[in-house]
Amino acid sequence: MGLELNVATISLLLILLTSTTTINAQTKVFDVRNYGAKPNIDITTAVASAWKDACAYPGSSKVVVPEAVYRVGNITFFGPCKSPIEFNVLGSIHSPEDPNYFKGDRWIAFQSIDHLIVSGTGNFNGEGETAWSRNGCSKNGYCAHLPTSIRFDYITNSIVQDITSYNSKQFHIHALGCQNLTFDHVTIIAPQDSPNTDGIHIGRSTKINVINSQISTGDDCVSIGDGSRDILIQGVNCGPGHGISVGSLGMYQIEQPVSGINVIGCNLTNTSNGVRIKTWPNSYPGSASNIHFENIIINNVDAPIIIDQGYCPWNVCKPEIPSKVKISNVSFKNIRGISRTKRAVVIVCSSSLPCENVELRDIDLRYNGKDGPATSRCVNVKPIIAGYQNPPPCTITTVF
Ligand SMILES: *[C@@H]1O[C@H](CO)[C@@H](O)[C@H](O)[C@H]1NC(C)=O
Ligand SMILES: *[C@@H]1O[C@H](CO)[C@@H](O)[C@H](O)[C@H]1NC(C)=O
Ligand SMILES: *[C@@H]1O[C@H](CO)[C@@H](O)[C@H](O)[C@H]1NC(C)=O
Ligand SMILES: *[C@@H]1O[C@H](CO)[C@@H](O)[C@H](O)[C@H]1NC(C)=O
Ligand SMILES: *[C@@H]1O[C@H](CO)[C@@H](O)[C@H](O)[C@H]1NC(C)=O
Repeated sequence: MGLELNVATISLLLILLTSTTTINAQTKVFDVRNYGAKPNIDITTAVASAWKDACAYPGSSKVVVPEAVYRVGNITFFGPCKSPIEFNVLGSIHSPEDPNYFKGDRWIAFQSIDHLIVSGTGNFNGEGETAWSRNGCSKNGYCAHLPTSIRFDYITNSIVQDITSYNSKQFHIHALGCQNLTFDHVTIIAPQDSPNTDGIHIGRSTKINVINSQISTGDDCVSIGDGSRDILIQGVNCGPGHGISVGSLGMYQIEQPVSGINVIGCNLTNTSNGVRIKTWPNSYPGSASNIHFENIIINNVDAPIIIDQGYCPWNVCKPEIPSKVKISNVSFKNIRGISRTKRAVVIVCSSSLPCENVELRDIDLRYNGKDGPATSRCVNVKPIIAGYQNPPPCTITTVF
């Protein structure tokens, strides 16, 4: 039979092959309107059902939230799914306004999914205005039971692109336990004075990219917590906000090391910090190493370059007991622009574990105020100095 394949058989085989390929290449759409979603009403059940069907579908699937205003309560989209899945938002998804509605720490969450794409020109609106004024929250940073707008827990090989997050009640986006997750062209917007509204917080995750994104918020634009490795922040415009931060580290027992952080080609405008590493005093042990900040433009930033191992907001710690987080192999290269205070470079390390191998290369930070010019301050660190330096470096350890 082997040699007797005739034209008809071959054609049939080709048709079968082609049609199979076509089926695989087609993405099945699960439009929430087919599950009862209507504009301006709560569509939590509809979107949950659409996700359930899409996730169980054997081929590529796409949940679509069309262009309209929808209300969604707290919801977790669980995987694993049968195949790659996309969550495509074209409309505007609004959170319940009442902070007391939330019993957990999240509004919308994606959990345990491989090959997820969250896409679309739509937005997630956390309706945070009502929550920000709650007692205590802005005074001590303790915003109990206020949810993160969008959580990614144990998400792998995935992309979040083009979406916008407005006015989260607490963090906008939090990625925990993720691997190979890229945020591309994401926009984050909340007022400068909205408390604890970190843009993207990354923790215990590997190979996370935040690229080509725009973050204006009331707290850190991007914050990188313990256990983060191989993180790239590139082409991010940040401001207003508290800048791009590694930490704060050392508050909890058994924190995992932070290592391999690259912040490249980012602009910071009207932020309270530029690029920063912060650890609590009187801390648990930890480490932060191989952290590189390069090609950063500073526009009116209070503290453009800062390592602060005595980070103690709201005076909740014992600043006289040194941090036990070891910081090493850090570089600041080609950081330029205008500082909003004279303290342009502040590197304050732990007295029990001084920073090691901190390099400052090609720094040009100007301060135009009456109490100027800009200064450098170094404590428990002997930075390696190279290239152009304004303000004048705080040591004479010069490397050519
Ligand atoms: C909403 O949050 C509560 C408390 O965390 C949880 O028990 C409930 O399952 C969540 N609802 C949905 C739809 O995820
Ligand atoms: C990382 O995720 C992207 C997006 O899904 C995928 O294209 C890429 O192959 C993944 N990389 C690895 C090493 O698996
Ligand atoms: C940063 O600002 C510079 C100069 O204004 C601009 O050329 C560059 O595109 C900006 N970078 C980003 C990531 O937007
Ligand atoms: C930065 O602050 C200045 C002065 O307050 C303001 O004019 C400018 O619009 C702000 N820029 C951004 C991007 O917020
Ligand atoms: C710091 O860099 C040196 C030289 O490149 C390397 O030997 C050392 O292992 C690095 N330290 C950490 C904690 O990665």
